[in-house]
Amino acid sequence: MDDTIKHVASPLARQTLLDSDLTRPVAGGRPIPLLPWVQVIKIGGRSIMDRGHEAILPVVAELRALLPEHRMLILTGAGIRARHLYSVGLDLGLPVGSLQPLAASEAGQNGHILGCLLAPDGVSYIEHPTIASQLAIHLSAARAVVGSGFPPYHHHEFPNSRIPMHRADTGAFLIADALGAAGLTIVEDVDGVYTDDPNGPNGKKAQLLREASLADLAKLKGTLPFDPALLEVMANARHLERVQVVNGLVPGRLTAALRGQHVGSIIRAGARPAN
Ligand SMILES: Nc1ncnc2c1ncn2[C@@H]1O[C@H](COP(=O)(O)OP(=O)(O)O)[C@@H](O)[C@H]1O
Ligand SMILES: [Mg+2]
Repeated sequence: MDDTIKHVASPLARQTLLDSDLTRPVAGGRPIPLLPWVQVIKIGGRSIMDRGHEAILPVVAELRALLPEHRMLILTGAGIRARHLYSVGLDLGLPVGSLQPLAASEAGQNGHILGCLLAPDGVSYIEHPTIASQLAIHLSAARAVVGSGFPPYHHHEFPNSRIPMHRADTGAFLIADALGAAGLTIVEDVDGVYTDDPNGPNGKKAQLLREASLADLAKLKGTLPFDPALLEVMANARHLERVQVVNGLVPGRLTAALRGQHVGSIIRAGARPAN
């Protein structure tokens, strides 16, 4: 304090934020985990929800049975309706930032479906702003909530490709890592991540990867059963050290994963310790 002016001491006040060497002493710490007990589960749009009751009802039964054991943030992906939206929107020349919320709304529709089926167990669908600011109270009142897996980027979606690059797998990882969640399980219609698409032309040669690092996956030439952008955000994770990919069409796999068993594929992220 001098005579009249109060100086607010702040270590970054006069600092450029562009040089990480200069910001590291202040910004290099590990963030606190907000909800370290929450299990985040991403349910595939194409792989589970699009299949209708045959695939959905057993998954719902498994989620219901898990409620006494775990508090869960269940996030849904988009499927066939987003693909139709993309094709109509792209044909009309819509920018990626307009397509992003359209696809996200299908992920939300799938979430509403799961929310309805789990409503008797106290589970509701909640919107992004509620996830952002009131997840803790919702998960204190209920054992689980459902939301859209897509990140709410809208016109802030990166224009790297004409189809939104940050979809439900990436969104689920981002929120799980931000919350410092206990885990992220991605539910698909295949046993895990294979060396190549097991349903593709080279499917017979594809081998299941029980465990893989990001470097292992980067070496694969073919497709993956999740957004490629997931690998980039995993490389910068602050909390989550792994993601487990399981087959939701086989009863018991999701439950086994949440009980810490090695079913499906485990992708190791290797959370960054600092800065
Ligand atoms: N390397 C891979 N390992 C496993 N599955 C793969 C791979 N590459 C492509 N796939 C395919 O991804 C499909 C799942 O499709 P995806 O678009 O991820 O569905 P969802 O929208 O439900 O996440 C699987 O049925 C499988 O055929
Ligand atoms: Mg997938």
